[in-house]
This record gives sequence, C-alpha cells and structure tokens, in this order.
Amino acid sequence: MIIGTSGGSSVFVLCLICLVAVAQSGLYNTACGRDSRVNYTSNSIYKTNLDTAQATLFAAANTSTSGFYNATVGEGPDQVNALVYCRDDVQPDICRSCVKDSMNKLRESCPTTKEADIWYDECVLRYSNASIFNNVETWPLVFIWIQRNASDMDQFNKDLRDLLDKLKGQAIQQKFASGDTRSLDFLTIYGLMQCSPDLSSIQCNNCLDGLMGSIQSCCSGKLGARIINPSCQLRFTTNDLFYNDTIVDAPTPLRQLPATPPSVPPPVDGRDDKNRRTVIVVVAVLVGLVLMLLVLVCIFNRKRKQRTPTGRLLNDNVEDISSAESLQYDFGTIEVATNYFSDNNKLGQGGFGAVYKGTLQNGQKIAVKRLSRGSNQGQQEFINEVILVAKLQHRNLVRLLGFCFEGTERLLIYEFVPNASLDHFIFDSVKRSYLDWEKRYNIIGGVARGILYLHEDSRVRIIHRDLKASNVLLDAEMNPKIADFGMARLFNLDETQGITSRIVGTYGYMAPEYAMYGQFSAKSDVFSFGVLILEILSGQKNHSFQNGQNVEDLASFAWKNWKEGAPSNVVDPVLRNCSGSIHEMIRCIHIGLLCVQENVADRPTMASVVLMLNSFSVTIPVPSEPAFFMQSSSTHEVALPTNTVISRVSNKSSNIKSNSDNYSINETSFSDLYPR
Ligand SMILES: *[C@@H]1O[C@H](CO)[C@@H](O)[C@H](O)[C@H]1NC(C)=O
Ligand SMILES: *[C@@H]1O[C@H](CO)[C@@H](O)[C@H](O)[C@H]1NC(C)=O
Ligand SMILES: *[C@@H]1O[C@H](CO)[C@@H](O)[C@H](O)[C@H]1NC(C)=O
Ligand SMILES: *[C@@H]1O[C@H](CO)[C@@H](O)[C@H](O)[C@H]1NC(C)=O
Ligand SMILES: *[C@@H]1O[C@H](CO)[C@@H](O)[C@H](O)[C@H]1NC(C)=O
Ligand SMILES: *[C@@H]1O[C@H](CO)[C@@H](O)[C@H](O)[C@H]1NC(C)=O
Ligand SMILES: *[C@@H]1O[C@H](CO)[C@@H](O)[C@H](O)[C@H]1NC(C)=O
Ligand SMILES: *[C@@H]1O[C@H](CO)[C@@H](O)[C@H](O)[C@H]1NC(C)=O
Repeated sequence: MIIGTSGGSSVFVLCLICLVAVAQSGLYNTACGRDSRVNYTSNSIYKTNLDTAQATLFAAANTSTSGFYNATVGEGPDQVNALVYCRDDVQPDICRSCVKDSMNKLRESCPTTKEADIWYDECVLRYSNASIFNNVETWPLVFIWIQRNASDMDQFNKDLRDLLDKLKGQAIQQKFASGDTRSLDFLTIYGLMQCSPDLSSIQCNNCLDGLMGSIQSCCSGKLGARIINPSCQLRFTTNDLFYNDTIVDAPTPLRQLPATPPSVPPPVDGRDDKNRRTVIVVVAVLVGLVLMLLVLVCIFNRKRKQRTPTGRLLNDNVEDISSAESLQYDFGTIEVATNYFSDNNKLGQGGFGAVYKGTLQNGQKIAVKRLSRGSNQGQQEFINEVILVAKLQHRNLVRLLGFCFEGTERLLIYEFVPNASLDHFIFDSVKRSYLDWEKRYNIIGGVARGILYLHEDSRVRIIHRDLKASNVLLDAEMNPKIADFGMARLFNLDETQGITSRIVGTYGYMAPEYAMYGQFSAKSDVFSFGVLILEILSGQKNHSFQNGQNVEDLASFAWKNWKEGAPSNVVDPVLRNCSGSIHEMIRCIHIGLLCVQENVADRPTMASVVLMLNSFSVTIPVPSEPAFFMQSSSTHEVALPTNTVISRVSNKSSNIKSNSDNYSINETSFSDLYPR
C-alpha cells in the first residue's frame, strides 16, 4: 500500500491512534503498540521469544501454503503471540515473501515495543505479549480514501452497500470475499473484505460491521477507500480491479483457509465453534498436505521445464523475480497447446505477429501472439515490460498471462476471448443484428473505461496507439476487452518523448497530429475512440463509407447530419427500428464528434468521456467540424497542450492535465496507491 508518496498528495491518512507511521516507501502501515509503556530490551527473554516466533512463522510460510500462520512462544508476561495472514487471492510465493518482508520491516520499525501490527498490501502481521488469537481488535483504525466523489453519491452509496453486504455474507463464512457490482451505468465497484482467519463467524461479522459503519464518517460517496484495523479490512475502488479475481474465482483454489462450510449455520455458542474448528483444522491439515504434495510436484516439474533462468536477468526485486517466473511459459508447452502453431489454430494476423488459439494441458484456453519482429530492447528489459503490462488488469482489457522465449522466438500469452473482434460483428451484414443498441452501448462504455484505465488509473500510463474495432475483442457475454495495449512499451517505441518516428496504428483511426507528425498523446487515443464510436453506431467503416454515389468520410458525414439536426441518419438501419434509446444514440454521436476534433485541446479526456456517458446531466460542448487530416497540411498548426507529457513511469508531476478540460479529475487515482 502506498500512502501519499508524492508531494502534495491528496490522499489523507487518518489515524485515530497516532501510532500509525506512514512509511517512506509507502508500501505498508505500521503501528507500534497500543501501550507505549510496554517495551522490551535487546537482551530480554521477550526478544529471544520473538526471534523464535519469527523463525517459526518463516518456517511455516516456507512449508505451508495455507496463508495463515501463527506462533506462541514462552509464558507469562514474556509470551510472544504472533500471527500473519495473507489475502486469499495472493499467490503462495508472494504470500511467503510478504510474511518475511513484513516481519523484517516490523522488527525494524518497532524495535522495542512488545506489541506491533503491520499492514502490507498482501498480508497483515501482528504480535503481542497479550493473547491476540480469537479476539477482535478494533484499534488502531486506519482510513485511506480518494477525494473523488461519485457523481450520484446516494445511488453510489446504495450500490456500494449492496455489494458490501453481499461480500460480508461470504466473508463471514470464508474470512475473505471479493467481488464487483455495476453502478451508475458505466461504473464498476470492486470490493474486498477480509477477517483474520482465527476469528469466529460472529466475530468476523462484528468486526466488518464496525468498518462498514465507519464508512459514513470518512468516505461516504467517495470512489475508493480502504478501512483497516488489526482484525479485519475493507476495500473498494471503482473501475480498477485491484484483486486477483482468477485465483479467487477459481473452482479449485490452490489453497484454502480453514473455511467454514457454507452449509453449517453460524455458531450459537463458543463450544460449537470450537468443535467445528477442530474438525476444520483436521480437514485443513489433510487438504494442506495434499496441496503441499501437489505444489511440490508442480514446482519440481516447473524447475525441470524452465530453461532460461530469468530470475538472474532481473534486478534484485523479489517480487519481479517471482513474477517473471510465474509469467514464463515453456516453449514446448505452447507448441503443444497450439498444435505446433497449426494454421487451423490461427486466429488472425496483427501488426506485431500472428495470433494462435491454444489449449493448455489443464484445459485453459489461451491466445498466443507469435511476435514476427524483434523488439528493440534486450531480453531483460522486455521481461520487465511484460511484467509491467501483465500487472494491468481491468475487466475491459485482455489479460496478458505471460511470455515465452526460445532462441529467436518471442511469444506473448493472453487470455482467450471467445467471440472474436468487434469488426466481425459491426461490419458484417448478418452478424451486425446480434448487436442491439444495449450491447453496443455497453461496448462503448466498456472500451471507454478500459482506455481510461490505461490513461489514468493504472500504475503506468499507457497510450494504446492502435485502438480500432479489430482490437476490441468480445467475451462470451459480449463485453468488450481491449487487445494489443502496451505494444509500444514492449517494442520500446520511444514513449518518453511523446513523439516518434515510428508510427504504429491504422489510418482512419489515427489522429491527424499523430499520422502527420508522429506526435501522440492520450488525446490521439481519444480520436481513435471517437472514430470507433461512430463506427459502432453507424455500422460503417470509416474508410469505405458509401453515401449514395459518393465515398464519404464517416466523421464528416456524421457531423453534417448532426449539424443539420438529422443525426438519426447516421445510425445503423438495424438499430433504427429496435427498442434502443435514440436519445443515447444521439448523445454518443455527439461524444464521438467531440473526440475527432482536429484541435487536440478540443477533444475531451477519457475521464470526461466516461463522465459524459455516465451522466446525462453533464453538458457536452458543441463540436466543430471534425478533422480531415488528409487536407490539413502545414497551413494548420497542431498545438499540443501540456497534458501530453508522458513519462515511462507515471508519477504525480508528470500527470499534468489540461487546464482547458472542465471535467478533468485532478485527484490521484486510488489505483496509483496500490501496486498490484
Ligand atoms: C517505550 O518505547 C517508546 C518508543 O520506543 C518510548 O516512547 C517509551 O518512552 C518507552 N517506554 C518506556 C517505559 O521506556
Ligand atoms: C525457507 O526457504 C529458503 C529457501 O527456499 C531458505 O533459504 C530458508 O532458510 C528457509 N527458511 C526457513 C526458516 O526454513
Ligand atoms: C496456532 O497454530 C497451531 C499449530 O501450530 C494450532 O494448533 C492452533 O490452533 C493455532 N491457533 C489459532 C488460534 O489458530
Ligand atoms: C505484557 O508485558 C507488560 C510489561 O512487560 C506487562 O505489564 C503485561 O502484563 C504483559 N501482558 C500480558 C498479557 O502478559
Ligand atoms: C465531495 O463531496 C463532499 C460533500 O458532499 C464535498 O464537501 C467535497 O468538496 C466533494 N469533493 C470533491 C472533490 O468534489
Ligand atoms: C459468444 O460466445 C459464447 C460462448 O462461446 C456463445 O455461446 C455465443 O453464442 C457467442 N455469441 C455470438 C453472438 O457469437
Ligand atoms: C476516414 O477515411 C478517409 C478515407 O480513407 C480519410 O480521408 C479520413 O480522413 C478518415 N477519417 C477519419 C476521421 O479518420
Ligand atoms: C517523476 O516525473 C519527473 C518529471 O517528469 C521526473 O523528473 C522524475 O524522475 C519522475 N520520478 C519518477 C520516480 O519516475
């Protein structure tokens, strides 16, 4: 967890007990004892016991993947009670390093107090000379929130409460729950709740109720917050998937906390609870042993398969090394999965190489991009970029699962998205009817949110540079997922200067300043998005738009009709007769036209676009005639506003936004705070 690392950060940390230290690197929170009189010295029994407890926890984390470890060492006032628990969606190796890091950090930050707590993003560690097991500890209570308000706070609060109630129901049983819900048209709220696994269901319920109650006092209507005490935590964000939903949702989780079987009703008295816990512990130990065996077999297999010691290529960052290992696929595995890159499995040919469908041995479907050209960067740099791009996780982005190197082969492995790309539908005379207005509107909103995440909400700022219908894939429910983002980073296309001699992208979607001068910015993506909206609405390709006798440019056709008060002429005939809201369609044309403005400053940011799509009360500026970049020559100067400064790693000072943008949201995004 990063709390306000950059100067002037708008994130507030409110500690009700002034023991919470905001760390320099911002990765964690620590609290050194509720009672400052309870100290120990370096040659005391307590110190020895604490050392033993630390070793016990490390050893437990080394050998077990349960994600919850405890230790009790010594007796009387010198007894050390320690416990540490990881989030359920955290991979065992990350959990293991979190246990180590947190313990080392806590000993360092609280060198003399008998009692200490630390909250990392992935785990929570506590120790004390008092008994801390099976107790709800509500102090200190820490709030962190973002300042951005929901546009309709009442509705948002209601949706949030519904989500949290649902999650609480699950968390009481399993001590962990994560999930999402839709709110206000285009907003997705992601939530997470966790209790210390030693708590009973009733204790967990009470603890979470306390946190939910305190939302009112800190973060009502805010678009993201985190509320934690030593025994439980609550988090939510909007449009930013901060937990790993694949692990949590997996039908056979890798590891299981001693969870209460859902069929058992909540305990009425303590004895009941205790008996059940014994049963659970036995079951958990058995499950744990089996899982351990499986994990060992897997590790053994994996070690044998991996030929490139990627770990050594990277810097000494533990997380990166484990990420690189978990992201690396064996070439042979992929060959088998794609039936040796057979033509039958070929899904298509993109700008950077052919894409093949594959099925891993465990049945998971994947899409493999076989890069046809060398990257401009060394292997290590490439791997670092892959790790970075793999961390970009959003429901409207195609997830990068990993990579593979073998000789000159470079492969990128993606999640498989079943329903092909958007162009297969909107430009097909038959299939276009599968997409009614509701689906198309959902696609527009989803793409907007995905791009917004790339531009502003993810940890690194990404300009897509090749947004088009064929790069928007559709999942089984016809939700959009953007493909091919991050390619500029993977190919080292000089993202730092905001100007490039190598133009990637597709004519027709390209903003004039980019096509002509190689100047790109988030606003060039906005331009492409505008073209995409108009295509989705009209079912016409920009570059082959036929209007009677004339081949006409889609944007100018749309603008002409819009200006003449006949925007419905632009709408795909298939949509005209169905139930869709013509009001929404016209608004989308309006937004689309605004996005294809020639003057960069006249185009809205993605944040504004999302806002306009969400809320009909936001007034949209009137667009002028859209860009005709073929005609726009040197006579027209292309002015880039200050918001085009792009740094490789987005940070506060480089995150300058245009002043001309009335809708701009100036707060640090919550996701900036949480490295995934
Ligand atoms: C315990 O340590 C804290 C900080 O390390 C210090 O402020 C406090 O005075 C100490 N208490 C005693 C009784 O020494
Ligand atoms: C845990 O495992 C690592 C290497 O796998 C080893 O270096 C370390 O000593 C082990 N720690 C304990 C406490 O067993
Ligand atoms: C702590 O761990 C031990 C095993 O080392 C287990 O028997 C005990 O039940 C655990 N205590 C709690 C409170 O979970
Ligand atoms: C913890 O240690 C302090 C001081 O060393 C002592 O006063 C207190 O009673 C201890 N607490 C427990 C529960 O043993
Ligand atoms: C959010 O709403 C609160 C109260 O409704 C208001 O005081 C605050 O200024 C708003 N914050 C922003 C950033 O708009
Ligand atoms: C989308 O994919 C799902 C699952 O593969 C399939 O059932 C559905 O028919 C597809 N929809 C269309 C419109 O092709
Ligand atoms: C659409 O395509 C035509 C013909 O290729 C081109 O002249 C025009 O600039 C394109 N329009 C946009 C908005 O990209
Ligand atoms: C943050 O941005 C500024 C200006 O772009 C740059 O000088 C600085 O090195 C950046 N810091 C990091 C940590 O990237």
